[in-house]
Amino acid sequence: MEIEIGPYDGDARAFFEAGEVAFGERLRDDDLALWEATFEPDRAVVARDGSRIVGTAGIFSFELTVPGGVLPAAGVTAVGVQPTHRRRGILRGMMRAQLDAIHDRGEPIAILWASEGQIYQRFGYGLSTVATRISVARDRSAFRSPHHAAGTIRLADVDEAKRLLPPIHDAVRPHRPGFFNRTPAYWDSEVFYDPEHRRHGASAAWYAVHEAGGEPDGFARYRIRDRWDDAGPNSTLVVTDLVAVNPAAHLDLWRFLLDVDLMGRIEAWNVAPDDPLILTVAEPRRLGVALGDGMWLRVVDVSSALAGRRYRADGSLVLEVADELCPWNDGRWALRVEDGIPFVEPTTDAPDVACDTTDLAAAYLGAFTFAALADAARVSELGPGGVTRADALFRTDRAPWCPRVF
Ligand SMILES: CC(C)(COP(=O)(O)OP(=O)(O)OC[C@H]1O[C@@H](n2cnc3c(N)ncnc32)[C@H](O)[C@@H]1OP(=O)(O)O)[C@@H](O)C(=O)NCCC(=O)NCCS
Repeated sequence: MEIEIGPYDGDARAFFEAGEVAFGERLRDDDLALWEATFEPDRAVVARDGSRIVGTAGIFSFELTVPGGVLPAAGVTAVGVQPTHRRRGILRGMMRAQLDAIHDRGEPIAILWASEGQIYQRFGYGLSTVATRISVARDRSAFRSPHHAAGTIRLADVDEAKRLLPPIHDAVRPHRPGFFNRTPAYWDSEVFYDPEHRRHGASAAWYAVHEAGGEPDGFARYRIRDRWDDAGPNSTLVVTDLVAVNPAAHLDLWRFLLDVDLMGRIEAWNVAPDDPLILTVAEPRRLGVALGDGMWLRVVDVSSALAGRRYRADGSLVLEVADELCPWNDGRWALRVEDGIPFVEPTTDAPDVACDTTDLAAAYLGAFTFAALADAARVSELGPGGVTRADALFRTDRAPWCPRVF
């Protein structure tokens, strides 16, 4: 039977029931109750085999922090094809339908976290933030000089956390490219909802809130994976979230997390690549830093995406962008920044740099330089000094970082 791919007109239950199958799971009623509140049925795409849904793709309508601003972004989520229907082009069909719908809506950017890095690059998604893993033995986590706490830390229960955490996150969000806005329903279903099956054998989440002068200015969320060996306690503290408004609160929170008794090890799966921790500890190698893919980004509309961020300097550049999937992007774009304001238009001028949309995505939030992309044989310099001029415009002070998988 022919597979039909198109917009969704059903309810949340049928969508998630089908979607969970792709992840080898069965839908739980408690999960559904929360997902219903964030589900955007009018933005969902499904694949149907007869009356049966065999593939799903959803979207959160996010606002994404980009260098110098905020842009609407489609947060792609709940993508799956059931195991009986794989490698027949269903994902490709859903991606096509989704990209067209995002473009029609005028959203310049799509973002996602990938279960496997090789899935989405073929659809033009590029690596836009780096996730940095840390795994450090507690007894090797000393700072290089004595730490003087700038504030105090207390554990908050979930009701208090609901009140305290969102404003802290929102104070950081405008300053760090890669952050996206969270609605109260999103906080509830993705952060505060903490059922057993999300804990992977660890404790329920703990919320540590940092305060200075009575003002909350940072938080950490963590779990404890309990373990006792013959020699004594050897548990692991797993940091799931750490967000602070200022560096002093950030370091206080790290020191707290690294000093919890009975822990043998402290692990974090996604810290910013420029987290100050590596410059703070006495033994950086002991942090066991490992880099991996964070958020992937698709420049859905080159013109409005380029015009929607700010640049490090005034200047001009002609980019030759290759984009087979979205022909409206394919071609030469002149970017001119004057008094800090970018102007973007199609051009026939000679290009300085050639790239595809995965390369543009890797440079867009500032994760990678054009020079690094050229070293990786991805970007080509076509005009003299093109790569240097591109970096003079695109480079950012802070590494982009997306603090949560969605
Ligand atoms: C990933 C997934 C959605 C792919 O669906 P699919 O319908 O089999 O994909 P398609 O047949 O449209 O494949 C499109 C292309 O991607 C490739 N591809 C798809 N899934 C891939 C994977 N997991 N790894 C490597 N390549 C993959 C295909 O080989 C194909 O390549 P081609 O265009 O060069 O021929 C499906 O395997 C799945 O549901 N996996 C489990 C859940 C999951 O990981 N979802 C993604 C969450 S972010």
